[in-house]
Amino acid sequence: MQKLLDLISEKVGEAFAAEGYDGELGRSSVSSRPDLCEFQCNGAMAGAKQYHKAPFMIADAVAARLGADEESIFESAESVKPGFLNLKLKKSFLASYLVKVSRDEKFGLQIPEKEKTIIIDYGGPNVAKPLHVGHLRSAVIGEALKRMGRYCGDKVIGDIHLGDWGLQMGLVITELRHRYPELVYFDDNYVGEYPAEAPFTVSDLEEIYPTASKKSKEDEDYYKEAMENTHLLQEKKRGFYALWQKIIDVSVADLKKNYKNLDVDFELWNGEASVNDIIPGMVDKMKAEGHAHESNGALVVDVAEDSDPKEIPPCIILKSDGAALYTTTDLATILDREDKFDPDEILYVTDKRQELHFVQVFRAAHICGLVRPETELRHVGFGTVNGKDGKPFKTRDGGIMRLETLISDINDEMLAKIKTNPDIPSDEAETTARQVAMAALKYGDLSNQASKDYIFDMEKFCSFEGDTGPYILYTMVRIKSILGKYMEQTGKDKAALKELEVRGAQSAAEKNLQMSLARFSEIMRNAWDECAPHKLCAYIYELSNCFNSFYHETRIMPEENEEKRNGWIALLVLTLGILEASTGALGFSAPDKM
Ligand code: ARG
Repeated sequence: MQKLLDLISEKVGEAFAAEGYDGELGRSSVSSRPDLCEFQCNGAMAGAKQYHKAPFMIADAVAARLGADEESIFESAESVKPGFLNLKLKKSFLASYLVKVSRDEKFGLQIPEKEKTIIIDYGGPNVAKPLHVGHLRSAVIGEALKRMGRYCGDKVIGDIHLGDWGLQMGLVITELRHRYPELVYFDDNYVGEYPAEAPFTVSDLEEIYPTASKKSKEDEDYYKEAMENTHLLQEKKRGFYALWQKIIDVSVADLKKNYKNLDVDFELWNGEASVNDIIPGMVDKMKAEGHAHESNGALVVDVAEDSDPKEIPPCIILKSDGAALYTTTDLATILDREDKFDPDEILYVTDKRQELHFVQVFRAAHICGLVRPETELRHVGFGTVNGKDGKPFKTRDGGIMRLETLISDINDEMLAKIKTNPDIPSDEAETTARQVAMAALKYGDLSNQASKDYIFDMEKFCSFEGDTGPYILYTMVRIKSILGKYMEQTGKDKAALKELEVRGAQSAAEKNLQMSLARFSEIMRNAWDECAPHKLCAYIYELSNCFNSFYHETRIMPEENEEKRNGWIALLVLTLGILEASTGALGFSAPDKM
């Protein structure tokens, strides 16, 4: 289906053309003065220069033509000085447009004929290190983007890209070796099979890594040993590699549990280590083709461009000791993805402080021909989660806030709220609380422009009022409840509800709601194109507000005129449908009661 704005622009464009002007001038937008009109077109202003005429002369002619048209989709088209066109839609047209939207599986969203293949690299946890609040954003934003992309008809593949090959692995191995030198993994003469059971639990790992990391900072020899062990691991020393596999198994099982709690899942569980074997070939090719050269002992690719406002340092491929780096595994991963999926785009969702890293990697990938020139590599950098003091969010005693703690805190807060509602049976309270808490957490994050820092304010996020997840869910629950009553009273089922048709708006509030609904496809498409879940959040907040204003001034169930009431029920069905599609794309959903 055509987007409402495109349709409006087309109609206004036809009037421009009929008056002898360029039809392109008909491009219209949502009014910046909703008190005056619903849509506006400023084409006459631009046309004035092109045709050397006063803008109002053009606007007058176009407005007159639009006004004289019996079939017009506009209730009014006014020319106002110095040459703007103020437009209002006919109620009957808006209603008929919405009937089509209701009948459309995607509520009017156009699906491109050729789907794009897009890989989203998100999550990015580091094996053996516990997830903390910093990992929240990558998971939540990445998952939302993935679902939005799929809703918009693209083929989207999520890859967690584990940090599983760096120094932290060497540190864990070193610490294990100090504690349990007798383990068979450290016996160089051992040739048998290694035990199936890991010699540690996930809680052990959670203590081992920080201990090792601390030691390495205080003790130079320990650090050197960890570096050496990392190197041996990367050369796949048998015992180390077997032990590493155990660390991965234990850690990944725990990560899966944690991400499941966030309703986040990945198609690919690859990591830095997955591409270890293709690094040498890639490096050789970079050298042979003259893209990589030696500089102070290291192997680098120059990525600076003349137009850079500040200097972009060369991308280091191998350190002087021959060790691979974060850039190296990222480049090899690009090569691997190109090979296996031939993606049109790869999106990376990480902390924005990694921006320079990605500029270097993306440029190097294109220079070295690791991807097709038209493959888009894009970094979606996000800001920090801060506490109310404006500093990075911490626990009360100043420690790092673990993601698990954060999730259980918000679940508890929500459970206390949900329990005050006597309509919710106690055995459902916990599930409901978790569902609403998830919305609180995710919406609290996603409603902020990703690149900005935000303040984690549990109380605000959990509020049932204002720009929050629970408010959106509350609106959905309210609609569900009215629809439930209606079905009960009329004996109609859900399928019958879908047959009802939206009717011409009878109040300003109803028209506002209808206009908001009509814009869904445009907003969804735009939010995905711009990788901007916050735009979809802003939309469902506005839609919920429009719905609640309409609801407060309309007595739906007591309405005796059946046609009227049915028209409103159709409007409710559509509102709920669009809210469900949107929240689903953002990664959360509404319960039946809350
Ligand atoms: N593990 C990395 C970190 O903790 C994030 C990985 C992001 N993805 C990537 N392809 N570099 O910073």
